[in-house]
Amino acid sequence: MALYSEKVMDHFRNPRNVGVIENADGVGEVGNAKCGDIMKMYLKIDGGTITDVKFETFGCGSAIASSSMATEMIKGKPVSEALGLTNKAVAEALDGLPAHKMHCSVLAEEAIKNALKDYYEKNGIKNDI
Ligand code: FES
Repeated sequence: MALYSEKVMDHFRNPRNVGVIENADGVGEVGNAKCGDIMKMYLKIDGGTITDVKFETFGCGSAIASSSMATEMIKGKPVSEALGLTNKAVAEALDGLPAHKMHCSVLAEEAIKNALKDYYEKNGIKNDI
């Protein structure tokens, strides 16, 4: 069996939502202590809905595929739903990641959570993210 699923390869080769959102409503950046990779997530939020999302990464192929999939999963969704997105759900949507690459998908989950935290803080909304 191939190490990476077709979906992982597709999102790695043609990542969705790569880039920067100027004047984003929330920006989150995380780094992975293990490998030193970095992920940055930008959110545009209107009326509690994520209307746009983009990411930049200095990360491996699995991090790129995970972020690409994660952005597709939260785009157009309510903030509450995005908050509940887990790296496990992202990996499942990609038809799996090798066990030693699961930590890469955590970058995507954490970057989204940090961006939402930034959004809450900018708007003076209490949160426990
Ligand atoms: Fe660093 Fe994948 S090896 S994010």
